[in-house]
Amino acid sequence: MILALETSCDDTCAAVVSADGRILSNQIASQGLLHARYGGVVPEIASRHHLELVDAITADALERAGAGLDEIETVAVTRGPGLIGALLVGLSSAKALAAARRLPLTPVDHLRGHVAANFVAPAPMEPPFVCLIASGGHTLLTRVSDHAGYEVLGQTLDDAAGEAFDKGARLLGLGYPGGPALSRLAAGGDAAAFDFPTGARVAGLDFSFAGLKTALLYKIRDLGPEETRRRAADLAAAYEHAIVEALTARVVRALEAEAEPRLAIGGGVAANRLLRERAAALGVPVHVPPPELCTDNAAMIGSAARWVEPLAFPDYLGLDAYATA
Ligand code: KG4
Ligand code: ZN
Repeated sequence: MILALETSCDDTCAAVVSADGRILSNQIASQGLLHARYGGVVPEIASRHHLELVDAITADALERAGAGLDEIETVAVTRGPGLIGALLVGLSSAKALAAARRLPLTPVDHLRGHVAANFVAPAPMEPPFVCLIASGGHTLLTRVSDHAGYEVLGQTLDDAAGEAFDKGARLLGLGYPGGPALSRLAAGGDAAAFDFPTGARVAGLDFSFAGLKTALLYKIRDLGPEETRRRAADLAAAYEHAIVEALTARVVRALEAEAEPRLAIGGGVAANRLLRERAAALGVPVHVPPPELCTDNAAMIGSAARWVEPLAFPDYLGLDAYATA
């Protein structure tokens, strides 16, 4: 059994995953509300809360799994990329848990974790497949040829897709995290009411979302506060539509180059209802993890750890986290 910790951003997560990829527990303490008043994640606040929460969430994950530390064979942890202070809390906790029992430690890359959300039992997606990873910090189109890694086919040149959701939500006066809030508002709007750019001028399989955000800013200025409020649902729907179109256009292009096109998605934006619908309607086999495995969680880290070489005690004691990939 693998005990996995994930603290790369503002969610304190612990999970127990079996060697064959079954999720025995997957616990998350979200700090979302603590950061909402600042309109985004405050790194130092995130680190402090991880420190307060990590022991309890680990105990909770073990209890829910009906497991004791004696049954854990390896401790997996997110090493990066993410907020460095936040990562260090998870990494230090994982080292302590592992070292106390002389267990091996498995450092996991966060983005590989998002891919590996597609590998969990009982219905894993077997490589090869094209995988779109869209989160608050990253937007990557990848080709997954085996369980251990991926090849980057395209990526964002500026903002991540989740960042575009969050910034759009902020411009519309919605709370943080913005993605789910903007999506809820969009459900009651008309996506055809406004025409926002989808980064179509970017060639190949790369993405660009900065122009979209600026387009929304100018539109809101043109409309003025009252009209913006009145048409908020339409603005949200058109904006969400543009992000999802930008993502799916590149996905379609990547799938066209595949002999046997198959698609998986991951990352917080993969929890988006419209993106999930659009992906499912592409006419190729599609694997869409449940929303709780798309947003940050530790089960995906435990899942990815199954294909990462563990470090023996005490080789990992000096291991450092990394902020960028
Ligand atoms: O993967 P994730 O939980 O954390 C990072 O690694 O960044 O992704 C968080 C991002 C945020 O930008 C959030 O607004 C977005 O995913 N997100 C959504 C939805 N749920 C989360 N965006 C659109 N629709 C959603 N339902
Ligand atoms: Zn993530």
